[in-house]
Amino acid sequence: MAILVTGGLGYIGSHTVVELLNNNFEVVIVDDLSNSEKFILKNIENITGRKPVFYPFDLKRRELLTQVFDAHSIDGCINFAASKAVGESQIKPVDYYENNLFSLINILQEFKERGLSNFIFSSSCTVYGQADTMPIDENTPLKMPESVYGKTKQMGEEILADFAKAYQRKICLLRYFNPIGAHPSFKIGELPMGIPNNLVPYVMQTAAGIREKLNVWGNDYPTPDGTAIRDYIYVVDLAKAHVAALQKLMQDTADGAVIDIYNLGTGKGSSVLEVIKAFEVANNVEVPYQICERREGDITIAYANVDKAERELGWKSETSLEESLKTVWEWQKYLNARNI
Ligand code: NAD
Ligand code: WQD
Repeated sequence: MAILVTGGLGYIGSHTVVELLNNNFEVVIVDDLSNSEKFILKNIENITGRKPVFYPFDLKRRELLTQVFDAHSIDGCINFAASKAVGESQIKPVDYYENNLFSLINILQEFKERGLSNFIFSSSCTVYGQADTMPIDENTPLKMPESVYGKTKQMGEEILADFAKAYQRKICLLRYFNPIGAHPSFKIGELPMGIPNNLVPYVMQTAAGIREKLNVWGNDYPTPDGTAIRDYIYVVDLAKAHVAALQKLMQDTADGAVIDIYNLGTGKGSSVLEVIKAFEVANNVEVPYQICERREGDITIAYANVDKAERELGWKSETSLEESLKTVWEWQKYLNARNI
């Protein structure tokens, strides 16, 4: 069974490729290395003892994608490939719409023409915006995201739902909350390019002395300690959910469209200050920080109701925040040792 994994050398993609290989799937990766590094492929081989097929090209190149589908018998796709920097998406909207949506549509054209099914899409909790009630379940009303990045996710979801309905195909939308951490081998993890925007990579680099101080964006939120709350999910747990979602799609032999939607988080919210404290305790290091103004566009609180994923996929997150943050620090040491 060959699964096309787009963006398979990226952060979540590489961890999912490891889990797929460990579950005996054949994996075909397409990644243009726009936000990843070739050494990740070697390290995936090193961890699993298996070699995924790898094509380094941009998914917007439809003619190259067609050749991949001609060369392999593809049974499904997990589509991680996308540009994901929220701030950048506001300055380069056309590039974000082009990369995130043209790539998706090119794959769907191949799926449509070849009668293929079993498509998993990396969506995001950003499609809920600031939800009115917590925890957020899959029936929580969607709000059009403020960022262009978020809009590409919401549009991607709609394109896929229309695809499933019109052609009677099976698709799954996975809405991730905040993925963190690195593989326990410490050979793959998040590779922040430039100055990180996300909290945990910034905490990691501050503890390592690469950044002087962490800016805590606002302590006047209506939360117990005044800082914003998110649901931080360990990336290996998240990767395992993809395998479970894929297996469910593949086992579903009924005719007709299937549109599965799952929130993937831990079900527990943590504030910015709690994350800093947990990192310090888990790793016995200091994270200097200062309180700043709120960051534009940030929401106050988001954490998932994960009952549906547990009920239908038999999946739930297993790793604590402290355990996840330990892997973050070990990963930073790996990067330091190699001057990455
Ligand atoms: P990432 O940037 O590490 O991985 C994406 C990979 O896709 C990279 O390796 C990049 O080189 C590749 N890529 C991008 N555009 C491509 C193209 N046109 N052709 C071929 N390859 C291309 O990102 P990630 O954190 O692993 O995120 C994976 C997916 O999950 C993305 O779709 C992202 O939007 C979504 N997501 C991420 C988060 C998060 O916080 N990391 C949260 C919710 C959703
Ligand atoms: C978490 C909290 C910040 C950095 C973003 C995207 C979202 C999703 C995940 C993909 C917030 C605070 C952060 C810093 C801080 N990605 N923070 N200092 O904002 O939940 O979501 O990534 O789909 O679409 O918008 O994650 O990690 O950026 O921030 O105080 O240097 O940490 O204000 O409260 P966020 P994040």
